[in-house]
Amino acid sequence: MDIIVKKNFKHLSGEIEIPSDKSISHRAVILASLAKGKSVIKNFSSAKDPLSSVGVCKNLGVDIELNDNTLTVNSNGTFIKPEADLYCGNSGTTMRLMSGILAGQDFSSVLKGDASLSKRPMKRIITPLSLMGAKISSENNHAPLEIEGTSLHGINYALPIASAQVKSCILLAGLFAHGETICTEKTPSRNHTEIMLQSMGADIVIHNNSIKIKKSTLEPLHTEICGDISSTAYFLVAGLIVPNSKITIKNVGLNPTRTGIIDVIKQMNGDIKILNKRELNSEPAGDIEVCYSPELKGIEINGEIIPRLIDEIPVIAVLATQCNGCTIIKDAQDLRSKESDRIKTIVTELKKLGANIQETPDGMIIQGKTELYGDCEVECYSDHRLAMSLYTAGLICKKEILIKNFEWVNISFPEFWGLFNKLM
Ligand code: S3P
Repeated sequence: MDIIVKKNFKHLSGEIEIPSDKSISHRAVILASLAKGKSVIKNFSSAKDPLSSVGVCKNLGVDIELNDNTLTVNSNGTFIKPEADLYCGNSGTTMRLMSGILAGQDFSSVLKGDASLSKRPMKRIITPLSLMGAKISSENNHAPLEIEGTSLHGINYALPIASAQVKSCILLAGLFAHGETICTEKTPSRNHTEIMLQSMGADIVIHNNSIKIKKSTLEPLHTEICGDISSTAYFLVAGLIVPNSKITIKNVGLNPTRTGIIDVIKQMNGDIKILNKRELNSEPAGDIEVCYSPELKGIEINGEIIPRLIDEIPVIAVLATQCNGCTIIKDAQDLRSKESDRIKTIVTELKKLGANIQETPDGMIIQGKTELYGDCEVECYSDHRLAMSLYTAGLICKKEILIKNFEWVNISFPEFWGLFNKLM
């Protein structure tokens, strides 16, 4: 589906509730499937990626029902050998987290993905899992992954890259391994797996950047998932750059491992306020208000903050085009291994709109403030975050833009378009 970004609106104003967090939804269905008994998860995501995790767990014999965003999981706490290959769609989180679990089962299984997922690097999980004794075959460390379930043993592993998916994969394998598994990260990445495992009674100890886990029996999960800050990012940026806008986004997850974009907006001089701070099942949450900010300034974004905003970098690049001065993004080379090479793809497409933006090996340099002209077609490279970032840029282009294959937004945010229309 190709779409044209509407230009016939004055500004963005009003209040929206942001849909469920994708990362937490994956973990909720996967961990609930490992717990014996009935789990009830409210505000489960209806996006395609978490539904891939639901599909995989169902094919491993778990009884799962989704009704009006409430997911009910009835499990006897174990998986059974699947009758067919397990399809993870576009979802790296499904494939990487499930690999950790499947490596320690007493049956074999195959994890497959779509064309984009089949190009993404899996060596980062195959290496530590093999050190634990796992038997995984693949062609050049890419999906499909053939996993021969076996007995695993704990390891002490220092993560060479900041990746919550790799960390979670190792911790989940640790749930089935003999002895203790220790995982240490140099730079903290999102910690939803650890928080949820703790709430389900796992034998897990967290000390600074080290996490220790042992074989555990999980208790069923009763939780309500907060809204996704990564989905919120498009509304934050739109509210800041579309003249005269004022938007309130309600029920946003504010886990500090995910809020790098808020720090960036503050540093750029953006008008942003956090309201009604609260906690939802050990995850911080709140509402966010943003207003149009004509005096934004360019900044440097690098180092420890990168994992805290990794998925938001394409839309931060859009924001940077509207900042006075230079924005330099560094240390983000892992963006090249996402659903698309997000350094190359966002730079290429924003240039088409008129942005002054250059690619670097580990990031990009954006010179602002530039008027975006538009009047062209852009590609999203089968990447949901590219599609949504380009839509956000399209809102301030002088002329209309056409985004090809916009249906990729459904991977993380099927409600995206409807919510923007509500604010126009
Ligand atoms: C995710 C972790 C991040 C992120 C991805 C979701 C997760 O990936 O980019 O969208 O849910 O654990 P990496 O672990 O590869 O950094």
